[in-house]
Amino acid sequence: MTSSPLSAKRTVAAVIPAAGRGVRLGPGAPKAMRPLGGVPMLVHAVRAMIHARSVSLVVVVAPADAVADVRSLLGNHGLPEAKDIRIVAGGDTRQESVRLGLAALPEDVDVVLVHDAARPLVPVEMVDAVAAAVRDGAPAVVPGLPLVDTVKRIDPGTDFVTGTPERALLRAVQTPQGFDRATLAKAHATITQDVTDDAGMVEQLGIQVLVVPGHEEAFKVTRPLDLILAEAVLARRRASDVF
Ligand code: CTP
Ligand code: MG
Repeated sequence: MTSSPLSAKRTVAAVIPAAGRGVRLGPGAPKAMRPLGGVPMLVHAVRAMIHARSVSLVVVVAPADAVADVRSLLGNHGLPEAKDIRIVAGGDTRQESVRLGLAALPEDVDVVLVHDAARPLVPVEMVDAVAAAVRDGAPAVVPGLPLVDTVKRIDPGTDFVTGTPERALLRAVQTPQGFDRATLAKAHATITQDVTDDAGMVEQLGIQVLVVPGHEEAFKVTRPLDLILAEAVLARRRASDVF
């Protein structure tokens, strides 16, 4: 199916939740501000969104006590001025931070990509592919990868295994997750239960979520070992001069 002229015109914004502390990474600055190849993780994530052709506006959701720091940080890293970058203060949970980011979007935005600052190395092509799938009519799109490990369901009280979901039917999902704006806004206005991703809220509305191919380099920097991996990926990119 090709996009209709109407869908091709839809304006895409990226919301980047970056207000987490990064507790699992260990003591230090808020995770988004920690360096990767000498540049804060958040700057990598903003660059990936800005360089995606489909994205015309970026909203960064910063730690509430670091809005001014984030503003000067982004100003200092020579980001292209052609695209609008807004910075707002985040909340206590990721869900709350995304909600605050959505509230800062201008009226004319009709597709929203939500992308974790903690996934600094997401390939630009993957960002555009998620946006394209939403523009082509899917109300919610998530990039996902097959699992390498077998997953067990357990009884949290006893740690005994209660089941083994068929691995071939599982996907580990990443960001950016892309949404028709009205769908995501409705999800955030309706669902109060705690979720770990935005698509989970849309699922609870009974709306179908499409999985498109994810990418190994879109992994989330969560624990110290992930930082080592991210540094290695970045060094390899720099050596081969690929953005
Ligand atoms: N996030 C946010 N606001 C919060 C919590 C998280 O904007 N109150 C963002 C993080 O900055 C990150 C993304 O959501 O970009 C994914 O969250 P996660 O990887 O869990 O990051 P942290 O919450 O910072 O890490 P941790 O859970 O280890 O503290
Ligand atoms: Mg967290």
